[in-house]
Amino acid sequence: MKIILKNKAELDAMRVAGRLTGQVLKQVAEAVTPGMTTGELDELTRELIRKTGGTPSFLNYNGYPGAICISINDEVIHGIPGKRVVLPGDIVSLDVGVYYDGFHGDSARTVMVGVTDPDVIRLVETTRDALAAGIAAARPGGHLSDVSNAVQRVAEAAGCSVVREFVGHGVGRHLHEDPQVPNYGAAGRGPILKPGMTIAIEPMVNLGRPGVAVLDDDWTVVTRDGKPSAHFEHTVAVLEEKVEVLTLA
Ligand code: CO
Repeated sequence: MKIILKNKAELDAMRVAGRLTGQVLKQVAEAVTPGMTTGELDELTRELIRKTGGTPSFLNYNGYPGAICISINDEVIHGIPGKRVVLPGDIVSLDVGVYYDGFHGDSARTVMVGVTDPDVIRLVETTRDALAAGIAAARPGGHLSDVSNAVQRVAEAAGCSVVREFVGHGVGRHLHEDPQVPNYGAAGRGPILKPGMTIAIEPMVNLGRPGVAVLDDDWTVVTRDGKPSAHFEHTVAVLEEKVEVLTLA
């Protein structure tokens, strides 16, 4: 494992890529309306990223065909945009990255489209809270797994479960760098968080059981029990005295 620390200039570049990513994600999230197809949201994402002067981090990554991942209801992550129509009552997870000036931002959020089911609302709010808890648990000099533990605690305290097979990650000149950032585990383990580390924290939380499967398209990850799943992600930087969230809009 080789964690790439970023210097001051590199952190500044990460701030730009991160902010652009946050802004694109926010605009796509605000555009989600019932009746739209996920393919239309992908088109919008491409246009918004083009306007930033950057390029989509995900497009063609390991052959991924979209500029954004759109995962609805029981889809956990890596849903491929296409003909699927967004319907009232859906939860829509949007995951996007902007590559700008040599660096990637990576951020995700789940939006509710006319959701009234209290269990589904609890799932989405819990996942958002789990990400916030993970970020709050990250401090320079602390352990990486303090983040993992905080995420898991919040998710499970609300009666939800965390996905094990997919994890957060270092991010920088490459979309995926070391270290891996699991959303579960004991605190006080793993690498020490050092100034210059930039990581994507991304809880994937299920309303039912934690098990997932990959569909025949080789990308879309779904829950095995068919219950809904939510996903929130921010790219953060560890600084000398604190942790900074880079993917705010
Ligand atoms: Co990520």
